[in-house]
Formats: sequence, C-alpha cells, structure tokens
Amino acid sequence: MTPNNWHDVMQHHLVLKKRDSSYRTLLPIEENRERTIVYEGQELLNFASNDYLGLCHDARLVAAGCREAQRWGAGSGASRLVTGTTRATVEFEERLASWHGRERALLFNSGYHANIGVLAALASRDTVVFTDKLNHASIYDGIVLSRCVMKRYRHGDAADLESQLEKSGAGRKIIITDAVFSMEGDLAPLMEIARLAKQHGALLIVDEAHSVGLFGPEGQGLAASLGLGDEVDIIMGTLGKSFGGCGAYIAARTEIVEYLINHARSFIFTTALPPFVIGALHAALDIIMNEKRGDQLLRRAANFLKSLQHLALDTGLSSTQIIPLIVKENGAALELMDFLRKNGVYAPAIRPPTVPQGQARIRLSLSYSHTERDLKRLHNLLEQWQIRSGS
Ligand SMILES: Cc1ncc(COP(=O)(O)O)c(C=O)c1O
Repeated sequence: MTPNNWHDVMQHHLVLKKRDSSYRTLLPIEENRERTIVYEGQELLNFASNDYLGLCHDARLVAAGCREAQRWGAGSGASRLVTGTTRATVEFEERLASWHGRERALLFNSGYHANIGVLAALASRDTVVFTDKLNHASIYDGIVLSRCVMKRYRHGDAADLESQLEKSGAGRKIIITDAVFSMEGDLAPLMEIARLAKQHGALLIVDEAHSVGLFGPEGQGLAASLGLGDEVDIIMGTLGKSFGGCGAYIAARTEIVEYLINHARSFIFTTALPPFVIGALHAALDIIMNEKRGDQLLRRAANFLKSLQHLALDTGLSSTQIIPLIVKENGAALELMDFLRKNGVYAPAIRPPTVPQGQARIRLSLSYSHTERDLKRLHNLLEQWQIRSGS
C-alpha cells in the first residue's frame, strides 16, 4: 500500500527504484571534448552523445554562434510571436524548408517541444493516433496531452498497423513514427506506412530525430532517402543531435505551419531559441549539406555492428549508428557500464521505463568523430567482457 504524506510517498518510490536497479543519478562531467568527457578526473571515450556528426565542437559553429550573440545578445528575450523572431531565424527556417523541399519550416525549442506541440495542436478527442509501440516518450506525452484515442501498433509492424487502421472506421487519423528508433537503432518501414497513410486518409508525421544529417542525398533524413516527399505530411527533425546545437523543427505545407503557429502551445508560450544557437545552426546546415559526414558514419557503423555480432553480442535490430547491447537485466547493464567506465569508456546503461521491462541495455552512439582506433578499443573491451562473463 502506498503511504499518504508526500515525504513517505517519495521515499517509497525512490526505494522501489533502488530495489530494481532503476534509480537514476546525474553525472556532473568536468569537461566535454570532441570524443571524450572528463568525469571524476578520468578521461572517458564518449559513446553516449548524440552529436553524431561531431559538430558540437566544430570551430565554425562556435564562431558563427558568437557572431550572432555579439550582434543580438545572449538571449532572445521573448517568444517567437512577441519579439523572438530574428531575421536569422526566418532565414534558417527558409533554408530548412528548401532543404526538405517543403513550403515552410517552423522551429521549436526541442524535439520534445515539437512532438508535444504538434500532437496536442492537431489531435483531439475525436482523432485516432496510431503510434509505433517504441516511439519516443515525447510522442506519448503529446498523445496524452491531446486526449485523442491512441492505438499502439507492434514495433515496426506495418501489417499490424494496417489491421488497426481497418478496424478504426471513419474519422480523423494520424500515424506517427520515429524514422530511426532511439533505443533500437532500427528503421521504420516508412514506404509501407506512407502507403497505408494515403490509403486510409491519415496524416503522416515522421520523427527524424536520429536520421537527419545521416540519411538522404544531402542528409535530409530517412523519408528523403526513400524518395518520399509529400506522402509525409510533417517531417520533424531535431537540432541537438546531428546538428550539434539544440532545438527542433517541423517541415510541412504552409497551411500546417500556419495552423501550428496559431495552435501549438509549446511554440506559442515559450521564449525563442537564443541567437547563438541560430547562428551555430546555420553553420551546421552548411556542413551537413556539403561534407557528407553521415554517409561515412553509417558505413563505419555497419562494419562495427558486424564486428560486434561476431562476438555474439545481442545488438537487437540495429542497422544504424545507434547500437544497443541488450543484456536484459538492469543489474547486468549497470555492471557492463561500470566495466567499460573502469576501462576508460563511457556508454550509458538504459533501463525501464526508457526501454521495456527485461530489455535493459547499453546504448552505443557512434559518431563521425570516433576514430578506427576508438572503435577497436571498444571492440576489444567488449570481447574481454564476453570472455569474462563466459558467454
Ligand atoms: C525519436 C526522438 N524524438 C524526439 C526526441 C526529443 O528531442 P530533444 O532531445 O530535442 O528534445 C528524442 C530525443 O532523444 C528522440 O529520440
């Protein structure tokens, strides 16, 4: 039975978390370098960052950000609809729209803001939202906020989606999926999903948080790499991962963007991204379009994945730069994380509720900045771990 007063309630839940090894703590790092972090005086090779293209420390981003901050100041001072829309912000949105071949783009302060804002603005009690079971938490939070009817289909299973669409009858429908799944590193069956969306008149939203900058002819994401254009109504891309900055955007038809400017509360009621970030993002987009870092990273990730599979590690369904090492038990994930940390590598243990019960894992996030030697070092450590644990 749960207690009634606040102190006891919180203690009760914290004890439960400690008991099943799912208690979380923060890791105050002393330095964040290009491929490494310094924690408690120890330099650790960093396999935790989503700075996939190594842009976070790129001098061109930092210089462009500083120029913008010197001109406009440290903060934006107000929401976009008040005085937070600078010329550079509008230009960046125009560049994103044209990169994606869409009429308009709209910035949000993070992917979390974008997903909750878009879903709560578009869906309501009379909307059915079809969501992949392993979609990101921000999608689930947007669904809850919208008060819509939620239908979860089996992960990556277009046949299950189809059967749920067929049962759902008339009425407004939205299908939403991650393009690359954040904890699995696998790809959504976007072609089939786009076909089903068209057939059932559903609005299709694709979250390209982990695919922009990597997939597509100029890094525009998985939908673009498959030749999907207007079949996807809303592309959501994040700017804190491959772009090395922070924030997010949606790219869509003018009508959708104008609707969101007027209805998305996480867009309306928050202070705009600071000038530094906008400046840095312009530089990031130049690099993403011109340097093809994503192609190189995906090639390297595919080879590394193969080498891990030779060690008989369970890498799940991964086929990208996100590689899970699934060890199932929370305790085992923490042990592997500690082993790696003691040997100079930081790779986080991911436990429920971020992943389903019994699916605890280490999440490896590969970056363009990692060298072949870095990967070899990690591979050797994992080999030692396998020998040590007798598998
Ligand atoms: C698929 C997906 N969507 C959205 C987000 C949220 O993005 P942000 O970190 O910019 O809030 C994440 C974050 O990891 C994600 O993995």
